[in-house]
Amino acid sequence: MRLKIGLISDKPQGETNCTAETKHTDIQKKSTNEEIYKVLKKKYDVVEIIADNRIIKNLIESKIDLAFPLCTGISGESRQSQVPAILEMLRIPYIGSGILAHSLSLNKAVAKQIFAYNNILTPSFQIFNTAGENFNMNLKFPLIVKPSCEGSGFGIHKDSVVYNKQDLMGKIKSLLKSYCPPVLAEEFIKGREFTIGIIGNGSEKRFLPIMEINFDDVPEKFGKFYTFEVKSQLSEKTKYICPASINKDIELKIKNSAGRAFDALGCRDFARVDVRLKEDQPYVLEINSLPGLKSQYSDLPKMALKEGLSYDELIFNIVEISIRRINKDKRYMEEKVSDKKIS
Ligand SMILES: Nc1ncnc2c1ncn2[C@@H]1O[C@H](COP(=O)(O)OP(=O)(O)O)[C@@H](O)[C@H]1O
Ligand SMILES: [Mg+2]
Repeated sequence: MRLKIGLISDKPQGETNCTAETKHTDIQKKSTNEEIYKVLKKKYDVVEIIADNRIIKNLIESKIDLAFPLCTGISGESRQSQVPAILEMLRIPYIGSGILAHSLSLNKAVAKQIFAYNNILTPSFQIFNTAGENFNMNLKFPLIVKPSCEGSGFGIHKDSVVYNKQDLMGKIKSLLKSYCPPVLAEEFIKGREFTIGIIGNGSEKRFLPIMEINFDDVPEKFGKFYTFEVKSQLSEKTKYICPASINKDIELKIKNSAGRAFDALGCRDFARVDVRLKEDQPYVLEINSLPGLKSQYSDLPKMALKEGLSYDELIFNIVEISIRRINKDKRYMEEKVSDKKIS
């Protein structure tokens, strides 16, 4: 008998909140699910489950051995943890980060406090729950103002970089109207940007070749950083250089920071860390505990390819890594994945 995997996906967000941002995400998610489904089918029995209000009943009836949640959730600051929480309640082992790590990574304000506590460099910042809070005069302009609990460039546009207090307060006010508080204002680092793919856990972590994201050819009017517009419409103007051209010393520093950020938040199995360089030191911007997995499009599969891992191999690797982790973890004695079924 083959191992039975439940591929769990979000309900399209556009059904409840139709914006340019949600439309774009729905399309990406749908094609990623289709691709992963096709790959998993080659080795496993696969059932697709939608994370709607029938999910508990559907999970119980599906009798899966392992879940692969690809859900960023619909609303709330801990939305990425909703499906993992249901899976833990039902004692179904699952691939990827757990409840806490997903909640922490989706909350940049809290994640940055944990990075700072662990001496992982991150841009200096201030958290605003309301627009009326006093500004910390120690922060140096320019600042970037962003929603704390979003991803995929949501809420990040050219005017997110501000050069004075008046624009800062205006931007905070407008973000608080559209996004879950808090809003984060952090020092804008002008240096080179990199993203680091990690697969594995503990001492078996594997760092994929580092990717530089270069904005030199992006027209000035869009901003020379990864805004929503640059991410979703200007990929042909963005240079993805992988492996990045950096010396060994910087490479090691970047990998070290990324690995420590992964561990500090308790991530599992796979993740992607964004950093920018200032005076040859990597500053962690954020960690994505559920990075995009769309082939030939998302960074992680592109980086894997440079490591010689085809898309199928990347997905199978992630599944195998998670099974090894689950079966080693003493905390979940009853949730082992049956080794008879692992091909
Ligand atoms: N402190 C910063 N300094 C320079 N650029 C930043 C900073 N914070 C964010 N950015 C730019 O904005 C992009 C998106 O920010 P990020 O925090 O990674 O949010 P998201 O979750 O939307 O990817 C980054 O990839 C980077 O280009
Ligand atoms: Mg990012």
